[in-house]
Amino acid sequence: MTGIQACGDYLQAAKQIAVLTGAGVSKESGIPTFRDAMEGLWTKFDPTQLATRRAFDANPKQVWDFYEYRRELMRPAQPNPGHFALAALQKRFPTLRIITQNIDDLHERAGSTDVIRLHGKISQNKCIANCQGDPTLVDVSQLTWDKSSGPPACPQCGQYVRPDVVWYGEMLPHTQLERAKALLEITDVIMVVGTSGLVSPSAEMPRRVKEHGGVVIEVNPDYSMITRIANLKLEGASGVMLPQVVVALGDK
Ligand code: APR
Repeated sequence: MTGIQACGDYLQAAKQIAVLTGAGVSKESGIPTFRDAMEGLWTKFDPTQLATRRAFDANPKQVWDFYEYRRELMRPAQPNPGHFALAALQKRFPTLRIITQNIDDLHERAGSTDVIRLHGKISQNKCIANCQGDPTLVDVSQLTWDKSSGPPACPQCGQYVRPDVVWYGEMLPHTQLERAKALLEITDVIMVVGTSGLVSPSAEMPRRVKEHGGVVIEVNPDYSMITRIANLKLEGASGVMLPQVVVALGDK
């Protein structure tokens, strides 16, 4: 039996499937993973130094421009066959839920629904003070400001607007984290797709499933922190492996 067939069998036997995705699932859409080298202007910057509240407070324009650069990179990106395969699996297994660390919106654009977003969404912005409640989203397309000066001001309170993403050192959105924890408690098969497993708490999630007797399936071309606890590893790109799983399930 091939790994693809074994994966299909695990999914078919599952009572509750969770899928944890990382930057690797969007790599074939042309979005560099978080630990890829960055091109051009930003090569001399370390993203882990820029994606922080401290960096924003010290230099709002530099951090705002860093996210504008990443939004430009992501704008032409389209969902790839891996995203579409996950949406197809959710149609086949309606209780399947995706927990993503990614801040692009490619899962939703491929048709996945009810995605649990641990790190926010780069296409959204919010008031840095959440002056109308958490989060106070701000549609910057409705604002006019001198874009060369960096971020706009919140139209409600006048404080800075910032990207609606989780920065290093910040708490994850409480409701999303609680949803993920509740899902993991009833999950008996978790597919871990395109993550190095370096960043908590997502890195611990597959371990939680394993601890209560669940199955961990990893989809990644390389070795990761998840590989050592995986029951099954599909060694390859998610855009290649996941469509094969959908085909293998066929009309079983
Ligand atoms: N298909 C599947 N996996 C892939 C592919 C692919 N085509 N290409 C690369 N990968 C794998 C890499 O082998 C690596 O293990 O995707 C993983 C990407 O790892 P990271 O770049 O560390 O991204 P991620 O795991 O999502 O990072 C987690 O860390 O920096 C923070 O907030 C950031 O959400 C991010 C979090």
